[in-house]
Amino acid sequence: MKKDFLCMEGVSAATLTKLMDDAAEMKKIVLSGDKSTDILKGKTVATLFYENSTRTRCSFEDAAKYLGATVTVVDVSTSSVQKGESILDTGRTIEAMGTDVIVIRHSASGAPKYLADNVGCSVINAGDGLHAHPTQALLDLFTIREKFGKVEGLTVTIIGDVKHSRVARSNIVSLTTMGAKVRIYGPPTMIPVAAEKLGCEVCSSIEDAFKGSDVIMGLRIQLERQQKGLFPSYGEYAKFFGVTPERMKLANKGAIAMHPGPVNRGVEFSYALCEDECCYKDIQVTNGVATRMALLKWILED
Ligand code: CP
Repeated sequence: MKKDFLCMEGVSAATLTKLMDDAAEMKKIVLSGDKSTDILKGKTVATLFYENSTRTRCSFEDAAKYLGATVTVVDVSTSSVQKGESILDTGRTIEAMGTDVIVIRHSASGAPKYLADNVGCSVINAGDGLHAHPTQALLDLFTIREKFGKVEGLTVTIIGDVKHSRVARSNIVSLTTMGAKVRIYGPPTMIPVAAEKLGCEVCSSIEDAFKGSDVIMGLRIQLERQQKGLFPSYGEYAKFFGVTPERMKLANKGAIAMHPGPVNRGVEFSYALCEDECCYKDIQVTNGVATRMALLKWILED
């Protein structure tokens, strides 16, 4: 049966655990001197990114190559999308070339689901609008489990633009599924209405956000939204919501700071925090390759 991976809703704890177990094995390959395997020999993976990306796109491409698959990179800026080809026709064209998996990122929420409903090959959502970024949540989950040996019972506090963050949305779902307590904090203009309905608690101050946290997860301030006046200035954001080594001292002993990237240094994370050993942003990137290898294998193994 065709498998897609479109969002974290409905993904069971058992499936997440299996993917994390496999990712631990895949990480050994990523860190080894010889990354060539033939686990997905004969398969083809296409990346179709309508939005910019460094981490997600490159890690999917590396993951597929390390597994021995053929990789097709569709450069939307020079493809027939520029002649007006629709997402449906582009997807079907890629499929008609014998592609097994299309990895898609799109600014429109729901675009990956629309494609998945209309092609026969598997579709992976690499981020759609404000909706979901399930592979980011998967690598974040893996990073937390790798560090603490478990996810259940931990407190994860997400700080920043939760309202507009597909990363936050997917993380809240997967962390809750795995038994973590999820809290959020940020400028009131960036906290979703009825946040509690998402299964998370809203912190009342920056001190409360750090106290009792095992993981602090920062979110990118989306610079393109700055002109909408969601917060007064970058300086004020850093002062009231920025993650610093000093603030990390308020968190639980051994707490880590995570960020999906790209980081606006000096805004969400201070320059000093980016160089601090509690900052896991680069470990997350490495884990992104391992978890995407595990996911591609899971999608294609049958
Ligand atoms: N975290 C993330 O999605 O980064 P990219 O936009 O670089 O893929």
